[in-house]
Amino acid sequence: MKNFLSIDDVDDPIAMVKNVFEIKRAPLADDSIGKGKVLGLVFFNSSLRTRMSTTRAAYNLGMNVMVLNVSSDSWQLEFEDGVIMDKGAVEHVKEAVPVMTSYCDILGVRSFPGLKNRDKDYQEEVLHSFVKNARCPVINLESSTLHPLQSLTDLSTIEEHKQSEKPQVVLTWAPHPRSLPQSVANSFAQWMNKTNYDLTIVQPEGLELSEQFTAGAKIEWNQEKALEGADFVYVKNWSSYHHYGARKDHPEWTITSEKLALTNSAKVMHCLPVRRNVVMADEVLDGPNAIVIQQAENRLYAAQAVLKEILKNQWK
Ligand code: CP
Repeated sequence: MKNFLSIDDVDDPIAMVKNVFEIKRAPLADDSIGKGKVLGLVFFNSSLRTRMSTTRAAYNLGMNVMVLNVSSDSWQLEFEDGVIMDKGAVEHVKEAVPVMTSYCDILGVRSFPGLKNRDKDYQEEVLHSFVKNARCPVINLESSTLHPLQSLTDLSTIEEHKQSEKPQVVLTWAPHPRSLPQSVANSFAQWMNKTNYDLTIVQPEGLELSEQFTAGAKIEWNQEKALEGADFVYVKNWSSYHHYGARKDHPEWTITSEKLALTNSAKVMHCLPVRRNVVMADEVLDGPNAIVIQQAENRLYAAQAVLKEILKNQWK
C-alpha cells in the first residue's frame, strides 16, 4: 500500500481486518518497525479519536509524531494554481507540502468539506493536493467525501461482534442541529458494499447519498421498516447530497429503545462524537446494545494496521 485514501488502496479488506485483530491481540509486537520514522498529522478540522488513535498507533510501531493544526498553528494555505496571492492565504500548498514531507515519512491529513460547492468538495482538492505534492505516503484522516480509517474500524467492529455469517446491517440517518458531511456514511456504504455485506440505508426523502458510494445497498425511506430484524444499526447524520449541504429537521428519526425493539437485538454503532438525545437517546447509548466505545477503541488497531502496511512497503 502506497497511500491510504479510500478502500481502493486496499487489495483485500477482509485480510486487512485480520491484521487489525492480530494487532489488537498484540499491539506492541512490531514496536520497532517505525523506529526513526516520523508521522506528520495535519488537521484543518477538529478531532479527538482520529488524532489520539493514530498518534498512539504510531507510538506502538516505534514512530514519532508531529501534529499541525493548520487553522490555529500554521499559515493559511492556498490550493488554487495560478492565483495572485494578495488575500488571506500566506503559503501555497506547492511549497508547504514538500516542506512537510522533508520532515516526515508519512503524512495524514484531515480536511472537511465546505458543504457549499458540491463539485469542489467531491473533487477532494485538499487531499489530492497533498498527494500530488507529497514525497511520502498520505493517509486520509477524513476528507470531503470519505473517512476510510473510520470504515476499516467499522468493518472490523462488525466482524468482531457478528453472530451470523451474513448479518443484516442498517445505516440510518438521524437528526443533528448542524449540517454535517456525508463522508462517514459514504465511506461506510463503500466498505460494506465492497465486502458484500447485506446493507440497507434509510433516510428521509431528499437525504439520499451519492450512488457513487451506495450502489449495491438497499435504499429505504421508512426507518421502522428498515430496522425490522437488523443485527447492526449504524446511526449517523448527514446533510443533503442532492440539495447540497442542506439540513433537515426530523426529530422523529432519533434512535430510541422503542425503535431498537424492532431489531434483532441489534448492536448500535456510531463513529462519535454523538449528540445525546438528538441522534440517539441516553437509554440506547447507555444500554447493553451500544458498542460505540468498543468501536472507538478499534480506531487504534485500524490506524496501526494501516501504518504498518505502509511502513512495510515504504517507497521514500
Ligand atoms: N470518528 C472520528 O473521526 O472522530 P474524531 O472526529 O474525534 O476524530
